[in-house]
Amino acid sequence: MQKKSASPKTAHSNTQQSRQTALITGASSGIGEALAHCFAGAGFDVILVARSESTLKALSQSLAGQHGSAAVVLPADLSKPGAAAQLHAAVERNGRNVDVLVNCAGVLEQGAFTSIAPSSHQQMIDLNISGLTSMLSIFVPGMVQRGSGRVLNVASVAAFQPVPTLASYAASKAYVLSLSESLAEELRGTGVTVTALCPGITATNMLTQAAGANDKLSQLPGFLIADVQDVAQLAFAACMRGDAICVPGVVNRAAMIASRGTPKWLVRRIGGLLGRKAL
Ligand SMILES: NC(=O)c1ccc[n+]([C@@H]2O[C@H](COP(=O)([O-])OP(=O)(O)OC[C@H]3O[C@@H](n4cnc5c(N)ncnc54)[C@H](OP(=O)(O)O)[C@@H]3O)[C@@H](O)[C@H]2O)c1
Repeated sequence: MQKKSASPKTAHSNTQQSRQTALITGASSGIGEALAHCFAGAGFDVILVARSESTLKALSQSLAGQHGSAAVVLPADLSKPGAAAQLHAAVERNGRNVDVLVNCAGVLEQGAFTSIAPSSHQQMIDLNISGLTSMLSIFVPGMVQRGSGRVLNVASVAAFQPVPTLASYAASKAYVLSLSESLAEELRGTGVTVTALCPGITATNMLTQAAGANDKLSQLPGFLIADVQDVAQLAFAACMRGDAICVPGVVNRAAMIASRGTPKWLVRRIGGLLGRKAL
């Protein structure tokens, strides 16, 4: 297939949009909200997706005020079957193409596998895996057809190795990383790039909630906790360059390299020791 540019200045077709549009899931807080500011600040219009409609509306007003972006609010529960298709229909009714798709919505439950409710395991699978895959399968074909687009999938450093006490979450993020890497290669030459963002521990609601349920997490040293704006800026730049993987932070990159160069049995044992300490 012929290689076409995926530059933010180029991808337009037969819709009424004059600026590029980034659709961001999980935009109501944390990394997704910070990414919404990055895209709006760079001149994109944004489509904000999460369940909390009033929070998204407040963000939409703030983005319009600060950056002059059109910020469309489309509330959705992406863990529900059919949600991605409904979003796609709503985006079409708005007369827009999605030039950049950011799959950031995610949930985490930390603890012993056996102490986590079956419904919570299922929720991580429904949102982190099924919801994200549905978004890709519904929005990426249009990008390929237009010969231009960018995808940013939010995985985690937990994607690089099994993580006892985060077993289902880490497995869901390993899925996101593997899918993203496969797609990045499969789509090479189509003008569509796919980036997997693999943040380490980042100061967001997710960390606050996990620390609320487990005191030990609130005692983590500060150097291990990334600033959400820093993570979003690095992710935005990596997505616009079309990098396959973005791991923000020296400590996280070192841990990723170490886990890839260490025998699997040893990675599991170290993970087990650390995991048991974290309970
Ligand atoms: N914080 C970290 O340390 C860290 C590290 C590595 C990776 N990550 C990943 O980064 C991503 C963002 O997390 P965060 O740290 O920014 O946490 P966060 O502040 O809790 O944000 C999670 C976002 O997901 C949305 N969401 C949750 N359930 C949803 C559903 N069923 N349908 C649609 N949206 C839903 C939330 O909005 P509503 O509640 O309004 O729906 C919120 O906007 C996640 O994929 C997470 O796994 C985080």
